[in-house]
Amino acid sequence: MSRLLGGTLERVCKAVLLLCLLHFLVAVILYFDVYAQHLAFFSRFSARGPARALHPAASSSTNFSRPNTTAPSSGLPESPSARPGPTAPVLPPCPESPPGLVGRLLIEFTSPMPLERVQRENPGVLLGGRYAPPDCTPAQTVAVIIPFRHREHHLRYWLHYLHPILRRQRLRYGVYVINQHGEDTFNRAKLLNVGFLEALKEDATYDCFIFSDVDLVPMDDRNLYRCGDQPRHFAIAMDKFGFRLPYAGYFGGVSGLSKAQFLRINGFPNEYWGWGGEDDDIFNRFTKIQNTKLTMKRDGIGSVRYQVLEVSRQPLFTNITVDIGRPPSWPPRG
Ligand code: BGC
Repeated sequence: MSRLLGGTLERVCKAVLLLCLLHFLVAVILYFDVYAQHLAFFSRFSARGPARALHPAASSSTNFSRPNTTAPSSGLPESPSARPGPTAPVLPPCPESPPGLVGRLLIEFTSPMPLERVQRENPGVLLGGRYAPPDCTPAQTVAVIIPFRHREHHLRYWLHYLHPILRRQRLRYGVYVINQHGEDTFNRAKLLNVGFLEALKEDATYDCFIFSDVDLVPMDDRNLYRCGDQPRHFAIAMDKFGFRLPYAGYFGGVSGLSKAQFLRINGFPNEYWGWGGEDDDIFNRFTKIQNTKLTMKRDGIGSVRYQVLEVSRQPLFTNITVDIGRPPSWPPRG
């Protein structure tokens, strides 16, 4: 009887041990699967607290760098001008891999973030949010476009994290906050179209456009905000989605297109009022599928109508308030 009991116990113990081993193996596989994409990690602002708490590899703070580290000193003072003046020395091209990057960043949205602090941390950023590296000439001029309304709190964090990252990436860039006037339904993609046109009015040399939600911050500065041969989707692994794409073809959050790529697809659709869908339509423009193929020619940068109400150059960004009209009374959208 006791031998029978002993044998059963042994089998149960073996089964439990096997289960533990299996659990451990799955955890290791998942860990490395997520870790492999860490360059593309993004943190979306949430009131839940530090982004590191959401990612197991992020719990060791010693591996993380402070986001507001300044670029390594080149021996030169930070440029007083975002564009070289007539007497400025000719600088060598910026290196393909910026030397001063620090890798993974500790991102949290809980410390108070007054704009004065962000300004103090970024003395080299000029009025309107313009910057150029003091010691080299970047290959591209990047306009960062942020569709916006009533998110001042998020914007302060975005500026706090992004300016130091973009400086370390040795970009020549400008930050444009496109603020939708009034309380009508929000239209993200139309604001992005407006941002494209208005940024080019400010500086015709912009040749790369990064379109970013105001509440999205990269968790690694090696994710370079530059344009490539193809349109780029930067936010492919977001904490909100468990550091994975929510579905193949997801193109939301942060994306980048060269000026030529943007014009080739007639910019973004103007007719997506309310939440969602516009990023899917943008993605479809690249592959020109079905409905998008029909609407792309008539709805885009070529047909965008809006009125600029105010352009104000703030110390860390250019704010452009626009009236983009209102949605048609049908079909009803959120
Ligand atoms: C919407 C997208 C959105 C995505 C993720 C989709 O259903 O159409 O606009 O980005 O969900 O939230």
